[in-house]
Parts: sequence; structure tokens; C-alpha cells
Amino acid sequence: MQVKPQQAYLDCTLGSAGHALEIIKRGGLVYGLDIDPQALKRSKERILKAYPNAFFKVKQANFSQLSAVAQEFGLTTVAGILLDLGLSSEQLADSDRGFSFNLNAPLDMRASPDYQVTAADLINGLNKGELNELFQKLGEEQHSLSITDLIVRTRLIKPITTTKQLAELVMKAVKFRGKTHPATKVFQALRIAVNDELNNLKAVLPQAVSLLKPGGRLAVISFHSLEDRIIKLYFKNNVQVINLTKKPIIASEEEIKANPRSRSAKLRVAQKI
Ligand SMILES: C[S@@+](CC[C@H](N)C(=O)[O-])C[C@H]1O[C@@H](n2cnc3c(N)ncnc32)[C@H](O)[C@@H]1O
Repeated sequence: MQVKPQQAYLDCTLGSAGHALEIIKRGGLVYGLDIDPQALKRSKERILKAYPNAFFKVKQANFSQLSAVAQEFGLTTVAGILLDLGLSSEQLADSDRGFSFNLNAPLDMRASPDYQVTAADLINGLNKGELNELFQKLGEEQHSLSITDLIVRTRLIKPITTTKQLAELVMKAVKFRGKTHPATKVFQALRIAVNDELNNLKAVLPQAVSLLKPGGRLAVISFHSLEDRIIKLYFKNNVQVINLTKKPIIASEEEIKANPRSRSAKLRVAQKI
């Protein structure tokens, strides 16, 4: 992002402030948002502890409303914008929130209480065709028909309300055992749907570009191909930006060893003309 001192930066996905702290370290002025109130609290504490006198402002908001949020911050243009998509390690590790098939929890998956519909609502409420489409489109799940079939038969007897129930059911429906857990794609699809992730991303990109000052950079880190495709096409086809990453930047082997979640991260950067 080539952070410059005393310039304004919007971190649209504060998380645990890892990136925000790096921007502050370089003298940048951080305006941060996150949809998750717990993430905001954590970020504020971390920033204040590391840099008690640093300039930073934060707001709980959905980045799909970026123009309005920037206006509330009093910003008309900024030197850089960061989107580090998906969930933080803290959210994934939180045993109450239902993101992980390794932790038994209510099937919730909402990144924020602002969202109304939980993963359990979708699993128990969508009809067979809708569930199948969800797993195919948002999970690219090859076994969606047999998984959907078993879900529909099971929920007739009793509702599916926990991550353990769903993960076991997918294991039963999918005979194939590969390196990754058979429920990975089903959980991904539900998470994307519950948090409206693809629509939020499509909504934020044009707002971000219009907020950048000439020469300002938009950096987007994504963790699955559905998101990466949206970013890649947007950067390629937008005449207001130069695409600085014809190929996405990925983590080095060393980084993957230190932080295994970086394995699937793809960073793309565009610069406003
Ligand atoms: C991968 S984490 C960010 C980690 C952060 N960059 C750090 O260094 O600690 C993604 C964050 O984005 C937030 N998030 C996801 N969707 C969002 C949305 N539509 N609007 C605002 N924040 C969102 C999540 O709550 C989560 O805290």
C-alpha cells in the first residue's frame, strides 16, 4: 500500500488490527471498520496498547456501505484502502459462533448480530432445490445432491442445529475422503450466504475506487476463488485504476509455515489513475 505518514487509510476489515497496526507504525492515519462489534473492541484495545497516542478512528459498519461510512468519518478521499476478506482467526476459533466443523456449536455463522438469518435457518428452511443450488454455487461442492438429500431426510425427524450434527451428516453423505474435511465446502457455502459475502464485495469495490485519491491504492486479500474472480475482473475492467497485480501475490512457503491460514490468501492491488 506504500503507506505515507499523515495520509488517511481506510481499513475496511479491522479484525484484530494486525494490518491497522502496521499502517499506524508507518505513520498513516487509520480509519477502521468491522461488522463484528467484538472485533472492534479487540482492535481498539490492541491499538491503544501498542500506540497510546496514535491517531485512529473506528466504527461498526458493513463495508458494503463504505461511501456513507467515509462520509461519517468526514473523509472525501483517502490514500489507501484495505479489504482483508473473510473471518479472523479469533472468529474462527470462537466456539460459540459456529464457523468451524471442528468445534461443536450452534449452527449460527453470523459475523455480526446485524445479520438476521443463521446457518441453521438456511439448513432447516430452504427447500431441496435451493439447498442444492447453495452448495453448488457458493461451495462448488460436487456431492451437493447426496448431501442435500440426507439433510432433507434428517431434518424431517429433527432439526439440524449444531455444527457437529451437520459435519457428521456430510461425512455420512460423502463417501470420498480426501485431504480436506468433507464438510469444508458446505460450511464455506453457508458462511458466504449467511454473511452475504459476495454481494458485499461487489458493492464495496466501486465505492472504494471512487474514494481513492489519484495514485491511491486499493489492496484486497481474498481466501476463495469466488471472491478472487470478482476482484480480478473488477480490476481488469475498471478504467479508473491500473491493475498492479496481473497475477495475485501469494504467501511464501516460510509465511505458510508460520501462519497456515495464509495458504489460501490471494492479494490483488489496484492504483487509482
Ligand atoms: C480476515 S479478518 C481481518 C483481519 C485483519 N486484517 C487483521 O490484521 O487482524 C476479516 C474481518 O472482516 C470482518 N468483516 C467481514 N465482512 C465484513 C463486512 N461486510 N463489513 C465489515 N467487516 C466485515 C470480519 O468481521 C473480520 O473481523
